[in-house]
Amino acid sequence: MDDLRTKYLDAIAGAGDESALEDLRLQAVGKKGEVALKMRELGKMTPEERQVMGPKLNALKDEINSALAAKKSALADAALDERLRTEWLDVTLPSRPVRQGSVHPVSQVTEEVTTIFADMGFAVAEGPQVEDDWYNFDALNIPAEHPTRTEMDTFYMHRAEGDVRPPHVLRTHTSPVQIRAMLEQGAPIRVIAPGRVYRADYDQTHTPMFHQIEGLAIDRDISMANLKWCLEEFCRAFFEVDKVELRFRASHFPFTEPSAEVDLRCSWQDGTLKVGEGDDWMEILGSGMVHPHVLRSGGIDPDQWQGFAFGIGIDRLAMLKYGIPDLRAFFDSDLRWLRHYGFSALDMPSLAGGLSR
Ligand code: DAH
Repeated sequence: MDDLRTKYLDAIAGAGDESALEDLRLQAVGKKGEVALKMRELGKMTPEERQVMGPKLNALKDEINSALAAKKSALADAALDERLRTEWLDVTLPSRPVRQGSVHPVSQVTEEVTTIFADMGFAVAEGPQVEDDWYNFDALNIPAEHPTRTEMDTFYMHRAEGDVRPPHVLRTHTSPVQIRAMLEQGAPIRVIAPGRVYRADYDQTHTPMFHQIEGLAIDRDISMANLKWCLEEFCRAFFEVDKVELRFRASHFPFTEPSAEVDLRCSWQDGTLKVGEGDDWMEILGSGMVHPHVLRSGGIDPDQWQGFAFGIGIDRLAMLKYGIPDLRAFFDSDLRWLRHYGFSALDMPSLAGGLSR
């Protein structure tokens, strides 16, 4: 019995890890362990022998069990000490310098334009970028055979054979949001709709994805004069100059009648644009009085209501205002470009505090 005791207490003291300890436990005090075997021999002993051996064996079993438990917690403590030693971290060290992110010019300009029109009572409306071709074309008075459909270099969504849903496109302009907003809100209505649009085109001034902002104002007596005032106010606020001059040039869009393209008086001095003076004109947007067919597509009675619409290229506005030469760089995700042309995330544009300080 003493041999058994020494054998196991020494082995337990020398065990290197928990699994070695478990093997020892099974060998010593497990159901088929050596102590159990010895206990089975009690049956063959005389009652006198048994009275001596029984308590001794039980005491040995207890002693081994408590040695096992003590060793187990010593091993756990050692493991914890080791982790604390290797995973040590000095939280008082200074952090590595992290460069602050910046706001992309497209986000900045969207924010600026939205701020200006919000001040004139326009709410923001939204629509999907993957658009039902009825909203993108038909509802805007662009029937299937109309040349605008091919001029717009439309991306069509893949259609599985047997698909009965209407064809879908990546919207080619934000004008379909006019229809969605009219159907949802009815008249009178005053909304702008900023967002992404898509056309298969790529060069220094065209990217397959770009941004527009659509405007729509419908009421009983809204006229071209209201359109002109709104756009002049907008340009004055946006370009942050007291004097702007706009030129309305007769044009054609299927969704407006009459239609006008709007040019801004400007001059180029040493490659920088000056707005409000000079002998150049820069085209900045398309606009017009909403066509009766379009009002009807939006569920609005053209005998009761009328109004204007316009569409502006956001990226183009950003290039003009902030003197950014190449549109393609807008979408390259080049950090050096973003740092150079980006805006502080903490300066929200506001009319009172300044749009682009
Ligand atoms: N949707 C036109 C385009 O992408 C822009 C436009 C022109 C929008 C005239 C309008 C508008 O709302 O009245 O080229």
